[in-house]
Amino acid sequence: MTGSDAAVLPAVRYRAATEADLPACEATWRDALNDYLVPMGQYEIPADNPSLRQLHAHALATDPDLFWVATRPDSSRAAARAADGAKAGDRVIGFGSAVRREHVWFLSMLFVRPGEQAAGMGRELLRRILPSDGDDATLATATDAAQPISNGLYTSLGIAPRMPMFNLVGRPTRPEALAPLPPGVFAERLDGQEREGGRDPAIQAAFDDLDAETLGVPHPQDHAFVLRQGRIGFAFRDGQGALLGYGYTSEVGRMGPIATRDPGLHAPIIAHLLAAVEPRGASAVWVPGPAGETMQMLVQAGLRMEGFPVLECWSKPFADFSRYLPISPGLL
Ligand SMILES: CC(C)(COP(=O)(O)OP(=O)(O)OC[C@H]1O[C@@H](n2cnc3c(N)ncnc32)[C@H](O)[C@@H]1OP(=O)(O)O)[C@@H](O)C(=O)NCCC(=O)NCCS
Repeated sequence: MTGSDAAVLPAVRYRAATEADLPACEATWRDALNDYLVPMGQYEIPADNPSLRQLHAHALATDPDLFWVATRPDSSRAAARAADGAKAGDRVIGFGSAVRREHVWFLSMLFVRPGEQAAGMGRELLRRILPSDGDDATLATATDAAQPISNGLYTSLGIAPRMPMFNLVGRPTRPEALAPLPPGVFAERLDGQEREGGRDPAIQAAFDDLDAETLGVPHPQDHAFVLRQGRIGFAFRDGQGALLGYGYTSEVGRMGPIATRDPGLHAPIIAHLLAAVEPRGASAVWVPGPAGETMQMLVQAGLRMEGFPVLECWSKPFADFSRYLPISPGLL
């Protein structure tokens, strides 16, 4: 956009998002990604993204004050509506959403429409959803490694890129490379019981303790979200029933979150999850760099790295990513 274009456009307005904004946020997300990914020879993002809509609805439900949109008055719709006396609408041209889990503030999404970028809107959206001055929160997010604008913007706020996560996709064509569960570790599939009556509070409390130890914070609301998405939980225990780890997989192939008391159990848990539920298509899991043995095992078993890595960014250390694997780049 040139300076003269900007002069004739109506001013940008900022407001808290509502559910009615979510379709426009999805379109903004898709158009902003396709605008830079397609020229780089990457796949075009499809029109329909149900799991993204679910993530936006979850972020808005748990943190309604941290989901904001940037808008301009929509002159075409306004004109049409003025004729029948309705209130003029506005058009979403950018949005940002974050979730707060105890002392960890995590930026889930920040997108500005192509043609509107590099004019300060992303920084202004962030300013409205960041913790207030004096709040000692840890700030974190995940960025696309191919995107210098977002990485530069977050780094200027101290949220620096510190760790790659690779998307490992496929099915094991060389299953002999998969590490078996060690003797004395037992897997319990939780889905039957959870579909009927919801999660047993004692199981969730044990998962919360493990999250506090590995991720730095419990986040039961996000476990509830992945269950609603259809992911299937597994608990891994020793002979006395003590929890050693947990993990989720799904019939659509997406795996995570996964947490382990011992980093040596990370790869065997993922290997178990790969075999325990046969997905309709490929399996897919975002593996953090510190879980290097898991990454090596998956590549040796035949899964492939897809697309660019994402970069986890944070203002100060908060999690042990050799033992914790996030839900997705958009949610810890
Ligand atoms: C990332 C995005 C949300 C930023 O919003 P924006 O309105 O374009 O950004 P702003 O103009 O507010 O700020 C960008 C900042 O990054 C800085 N920046 C841009 N390129 C940079 C680079 N190569 N190195 C370092 N900093 C850079 C700019 O200097 C600017 O800082 P300033 O305020 O000091 O000038 C937007 O560009 C976008 O939607 N991009 C495509 C999708 C995307 O990558 N989203 C983030 C997903 S992780």
